[in-house]
Order: sequence, then structure tokens, then C-alpha cells
Amino acid sequence: MADVQVHDKVFTPFITAGSIQARVAELGQAIDRDYAGKKPLLIGVLNGSVIFMADLLRHIGTACEIGFIRVSSYHGTESSGKVRNLMGLSDDIAGRDIIIVEDIIDTGDTAVYLIDELKKRQPASLRFATILFKPSALRQDVKPDYVGFEIPPAFVVGYGLDYDGLGRNLPDIYQLKS
Ligand code: HPA
Ligand code: MG
Repeated sequence: MADVQVHDKVFTPFITAGSIQARVAELGQAIDRDYAGKKPLLIGVLNGSVIFMADLLRHIGTACEIGFIRVSSYHGTESSGKVRNLMGLSDDIAGRDIIIVEDIIDTGDTAVYLIDELKKRQPASLRFATILFKPSALRQDVKPDYVGFEIPPAFVVGYGLDYDGLGRNLPDIYQLKS
């Protein structure tokens, strides 16, 4: 596989579309086991989660619903560390089994913010699914329940993840070339 250029930076192949698909299938099976007889509401965090959500959903056999929210917090290749606000949570989530669906947990700031915000609305249960997790970048006490891949702290694009708006459409995941 070849390197790709996104804006001014070069990215090198990191996780292939094939291995992503295999892993997402496993996550879907795990969710099926854990939510048998329930009707979870998957809440995707825009924009990064769209690809993962669409794939994950098709590997869940249990009846489920989806919704999307948006949090503005991240610009460029370095976390601003500022989480601003939560938009689009229209569903009444009280008493529901919620699974937050994210593209990545990096510092954990957004994850903690989302968990706090959603817990205020008293769901029956709340879990976190993310395709990527950078444990070494974490500065919050948060542990996602469903993780696609644990990765080193390098900046990545593809499979929904962007660099300044571009790169989300790449089927594979690439990391910043040093
Ligand atoms: N890539 C894209 N977006 C991100 C990343 C990353 O590595 N970390 C946090 N948001
Ligand atoms: Mg982004």
C-alpha cells in the first residue's frame, strides 16, 4: 500500500481495511452477547464516528436504534484540550441502554465530558465503543468498553478520522509519517 498525502502531511499505511472489518465484526458479536434481549441506543459522535457506526451497526443482530451527537473540541493534529458543547441529543435517553460510538479516545477529555453529560440524563446503562484508543495519550480516568485497536500516540487518519477535515473517506487507517 502506498503513502497518502492529506493537506501538507504524508501518512503511511497503518491498519488495513480488512483488519478493521474483522475487528468491527468481533465488536458487533460482543455487543450482541452483552445486549441480548435489550434494545440498545447507539449514539455516534459526529463527524468521526460515521464510518465505524455504519459498519458496527451491520454486525449487530440485536434490535437497536441509533442517534448522533456533535461535540466541538479538536483542531489540527494537537488536542486543544477544550471541550465546548454538546449538540443534537434529541432522544430521551432516560432508562435506555446507551452505547456511545466514537472514532478515537485520545486524551479522554471528550469521552469524560460525554459520559458526564449523558449520565445526567439517567440512562439505564452507559458504555463506550471506539475504533481506536491511544492509552498513552490519556489524561483522564476513562476505560472504553469496546475497543477496536489500541494504538501508539501518533496522529492517524482514515476510517472516519480526519486531519483538518480531510482523510475521513480513506478505507484504511494511516499514521503520520515522521
Ligand atoms: N487523528 C484524527 N483525529 C484525532 C486524533 C488522531 O490521531 N486524535 C484525536 N483526534
Ligand atoms: Mg477530527
